[in-house]
Amino acid sequence: MAASRIWIAGAAAAVLTLATGGAGAQPPGDPTKGATVFDDHCSDCHALGGVGQGPNLVGVVGRPAGTDPGYHYTEAMTASGLTWTPANLDRFLQGPKALVPGTAMSETVPDPTQRQDLIAYLATLTPKP
Ligand code: HEC
Repeated sequence: MAASRIWIAGAAAAVLTLATGGAGAQPPGDPTKGATVFDDHCSDCHALGGVGQGPNLVGVVGRPAGTDPGYHYTEAMTASGLTWTPANLDRFLQGPKALVPGTAMSETVPDPTQRQDLIAYLATLTPKP
């Protein structure tokens, strides 16, 4: 049917846009699996919706680095000039100190699929109005 074919073409284009790392859009990856990665690797330090040993990660996708008002960051992070696009998060989670020399965060997620799932999960965490 013609109508559904148009829809499929549109969806494919949207997936391509996301794969290239557009900020603000839902990145590829499985957020449900990403939630498990978060529990295994991140939740010890990052409380959701509040400050822990690390800053609050609710709303982090698309947010400029070092700007959670409740958290006292290293100067390295506040001066990094980065915005947490999916692409930058992917780089950060491969080696935080390589992307932001001097950051206090050292946790890495070496597996690319796990990183993608994790970033998809982070993108679902949006602040409540
Ligand atoms: C051992 C504690 C610890 C663990 C585990 C940890 N983090 Fe962090 N994270 C931090 C600290 C501390 C900072 C603040 C870094 C700074 O100020 O330089 C931070 C900062 C960040 C930032 C920057 C946030 C911002 O507002 O700029 C992101 C993104 C982040 N962490 C993601 C993650 C993810 C995703 C995981 C799980 C893979 C994770 N962290 C695991 C301690 C941790």
